[in-house]
Amino acid sequence: MGRRHARLPTSRVVVLLVGLLWLAAATPDEPHTPPPGQLIPGDPRDGYESAGFQTRSRQLHAVPGTRLALAELAAQPPLGLPPLPDPPTTDLIDLGRRLFYDRGLSANGTLSCGMCHVPEQAFTQNELATPVGIEGRFVRRNAPALYNVAYRPRLFHDGRETSLAAQIWSPLLAGNEMGNEDRDSVLSLVAADPIYGPAFDNLFADGLTDATLGNAIAAYERALLSANSPFDRWYYGGDPEALSPSARRGFFTFTAAGCHRCHTFSNRHALFTDDALYRTGVEYASRRREASPVDRLQVAPGVVIPIQVSVPTPDRADDGAEEVTGQVADRWRYRTPSLRNVALTAPYMHDGSLATLEAVISFYDAGGGDDPDREPSLAPLGLTALQRADLIAFLKSLTGDNVVALAADARSVPIGDRRARP
Ligand code: HEC
Ligand code: HEC
Repeated sequence: MGRRHARLPTSRVVVLLVGLLWLAAATPDEPHTPPPGQLIPGDPRDGYESAGFQTRSRQLHAVPGTRLALAELAAQPPLGLPPLPDPPTTDLIDLGRRLFYDRGLSANGTLSCGMCHVPEQAFTQNELATPVGIEGRFVRRNAPALYNVAYRPRLFHDGRETSLAAQIWSPLLAGNEMGNEDRDSVLSLVAADPIYGPAFDNLFADGLTDATLGNAIAAYERALLSANSPFDRWYYGGDPEALSPSARRGFFTFTAAGCHRCHTFSNRHALFTDDALYRTGVEYASRRREASPVDRLQVAPGVVIPIQVSVPTPDRADDGAEEVTGQVADRWRYRTPSLRNVALTAPYMHDGSLATLEAVISFYDAGGGDDPDREPSLAPLGLTALQRADLIAFLKSLTGDNVVALAADARSVPIGDRRARP
């Protein structure tokens, strides 16, 4: 305790303590009711080190879900997004939503799509740089947020997939993700389900197939549209009050620094990505860290401590787009991510190696990763402290107005724990 506090008379200290206790007691214990427009990224860790710590998380079964009219959202995308071709129908979305949160779709019935793409955590995972797959297996890349994924012409950090409906088979069959044996084993467990079997027969002339399972899950993913952010209301909606002066200055810094060359926008809408692949130097920098002689352990996203004991770590071999094209020139190139909702999607980059937006801005301020073969157009920026703060204010202004509603919508289906079902 500091000297100033030590000099307080005892009676005042008692009053202060009683006051604090009263405040703590009066704070309503309302987990999952964050201020409007905000998500709670995981359980708050305040006081985690004390023996009196109490979790505020609730069982997902106890979280009330509220259905959103997702088909309407997809038919009329929010301000700032382009029209969506072939918007999905309610029936398909409902089926896809249920499948997305069904843990029964993994080999041992434990892992759903929604456990790596967590709705309360911006359809990614805020607490892990790279997710943990079935039976605790290592996954080498950061889980991308799925907002507005309908507009992505290519998927995955290396752009190796082009269709959402086909993409599902990658996590479903990966031995370190959902671990299923083959497509048939997945199709038979879906067919045997009393809800899914008849639903596929009703909705598709072909019934349940490789493709229709993909179409159903993709219908839900394609409806996860989020925009009408403060930036959109200012830039596209013409509301001068929608954006703070700092975020407005940040927008001009964003363009002056050339960020919009890759994180593109147009006069009518903005996806903040050109969907192209670049070598920004992230992988090079991560490898240098990993190759350093001290053993390092990541204890939280971006929080790395040196350790004495040597633990075998899985090989994180990652050659980026070279793995897809076979061209050495594509080594360590990764797809430009969208910046919509980026304030909610930490940690950042394909390997989750940057924990905060501040770290990302420092990365660009230094001209990208310290990689001799990085994208030549990236150069040190020499940003002032004000410009850095403004850029972050701008990035925070890209949070859509429906992120809480999309998370509540996600919880309108059972989480698919078969053992917990009546
Ligand atoms: C174990 C965690 C995990 C599970 C389970 C999982 N994903 Fe993912 N998902 C990831 C990771 C990691 C990536 C990025 C992989 C890469 O780029 O190589 C990804 C990428 C994606 C992408 C591409 C997004 C983009 O912007 O390119 C989509 C779509 C997606 N997942 C949907 C799903 C669906 C649907 C399921 C369930 C069938 C699922 N995921 C299950 C971790 C997971
Ligand atoms: C040459 C193209 C290019 C330019 C210019 C560029 N970026 Fe990026 N940006 C990328 C790529 C590619 C990635 C992903 C790198 C990876 O995953 O390893 C990325 C990642 C990011 C991310 C992390 C997003 C996430 O979800 O992980 C942020 C934030 C970001 N950029 C902001 C900016 C800002 C701010 C500027 C300007 C100072 C900028 N970018 C300039 C291509 C670019």
